[in-house]
Amino acid sequence: MLTSAQLASYQKNGFLTVPKYLSIAEVASLRQSIERIISKADMATSSVFSSDDQAGSSDAYFLESAEKISCFYEEKALNERGEVIRGKASAINKIGHALHDLDDTFKAVSYKPALKNMAKQLGLAEPGIVQSQYIFKQPGIGGDVKPHQDATFLYTDPISCTGFWIALEKADRKNGCLFALPGSHRTSPLPKRFVRTGQHHETIFRALTDQKPTHWDLNEMQPIEVEAGDLVLLHGLCVHMSYANHSPRSPMPM
Ligand code: FE2
Repeated sequence: MLTSAQLASYQKNGFLTVPKYLSIAEVASLRQSIERIISKADMATSSVFSSDDQAGSSDAYFLESAEKISCFYEEKALNERGEVIRGKASAINKIGHALHDLDDTFKAVSYKPALKNMAKQLGLAEPGIVQSQYIFKQPGIGGDVKPHQDATFLYTDPISCTGFWIALEKADRKNGCLFALPGSHRTSPLPKRFVRTGQHHETIFRALTDQKPTHWDLNEMQPIEVEAGDLVLLHGLCVHMSYANHSPRSPMPM
């Protein structure tokens, strides 16, 4: 359960670190599960994921991943002919988006009563899990993730999207930890939302307001440095980002 001080901090900042949420054994089991998924993955049918390239998000592989366990490459893992130029485990940007329902290990962690109780403490009357992903932050080729608000992509009215981000290894400024803009969930109304549209279900951003978007000062971004097993709660309107992994640290032993 969250303490009243933790709740007050979340309400003030829009994010909160809950230390040691998962045990080292639970972290290890999630990592082993991902290793199994990668070893079985048919990367010939995967596609590239880039947070810069929203047009790429429209392909069938991306859209269908909502109900599957799908692997997405780093842009730099392919050569100009579209061939993978490195091993699977070091070429993947992320795996998603239904790990919470389709993989037993992820399911057990995702549906822990403690997590649901925390969601209720944050004011979510009937919390439901709609998406899960495993993000790699590959050293050397992994890109940055531009500042964004998760509610843009998981939109409800009123806003209810809440991120439960769990570190599966130490994340710090050197290997691409999360950064968040304190208080931005209170000062940055959502300017747009991501929608599927048209005959071919292409994805576009649709404006929600005529107002100019709020200016985000990246100098005010705060690093969220965490240890393996720590949980970060993230309000759907809280502006966050991550830089590329400039360290040689690799997330996977494979
Ligand atoms: Fe995000």
